[in-house]
Amino acid sequence: MQYEVVLPAAGSGKRMGAGQNKLFLLLANKPILIHTLEVFEQDENCTGIWLAVKPEEREFIQQLLREYQITKVKGLPDGGEERQHSVHSCIKEMEQVEIVLVHDAARPFITQNIIASLVKRAIEQGAAIAGVKAKDTMKKVKDGIIVETVDRESLWMIQTPQAFRYDLLAEAEDVAEKVGFLGTDEAMLVERLGYPVHIVEASYDNLKMTTKEDLVLGEAILKKRGI
Ligand code: CTP
Ligand code: MG
Repeated sequence: MQYEVVLPAAGSGKRMGAGQNKLFLLLANKPILIHTLEVFEQDENCTGIWLAVKPEEREFIQQLLREYQITKVKGLPDGGEERQHSVHSCIKEMEQVEIVLVHDAARPFITQNIIASLVKRAIEQGAAIAGVKAKDTMKKVKDGIIVETVDRESLWMIQTPQAFRYDLLAEAEDVAEKVGFLGTDEAMLVERLGYPVHIVEASYDNLKMTTKEDLVLGEAILKKRGI
């Protein structure tokens, strides 16, 4: 059940509007990035962490790793222009492992239970990603007018982690790079090669810290957990 994890952390947090990488903002007095790292640091099945970082932030992040005693980071390669490029630079730098997880550094509330389910499914089936069922009525809109009410039963909101057999993800990323395909998650790259990607029902708590409102929700989740 062992795995290594890739954490893209080289974004700029534009939608958060904090004037700095949102991963350095504090939740319960601790940087978001550290909340996320601690989940993997504490998971005995995690054998290595790869962090994609902005070159100008590398030193500060290394300082944080020391301060919070994060010991499993094996490499901090340069991130790229897009999230997919940041993930790819980690995949290229790491050695081959059986299972690799990709997880947004901006999702600090991921739990070991969900991680374990994803790793198990990836071992059995090759590719498995976290998601939750859509809660609201979903409609397709064009030019401000409803085109269609989409059957909600078949709609899932996709999160990370996304877990893969390493060879499968590496192949999908190589092909994407070669043909210049840009996806919004890793699963898209694997799907377009025709491999089945399985879904694991995760948690509505597994929020991505994207806008200011998410910080308020984040504090509430930590409070609920007694942190
Ligand atoms: N990320 C990355 N490299 C990029 C862009 C994003 O490593 N070129 C990372 C972010 O640091 C984050 C994760 O990918 O942990 C998810 O991306 P997102 O939530 O979009 O973060 P940002 O790109 O930082 O935010 P925004 O899109 O609002 O600028
Ligand atoms: Mg982004």
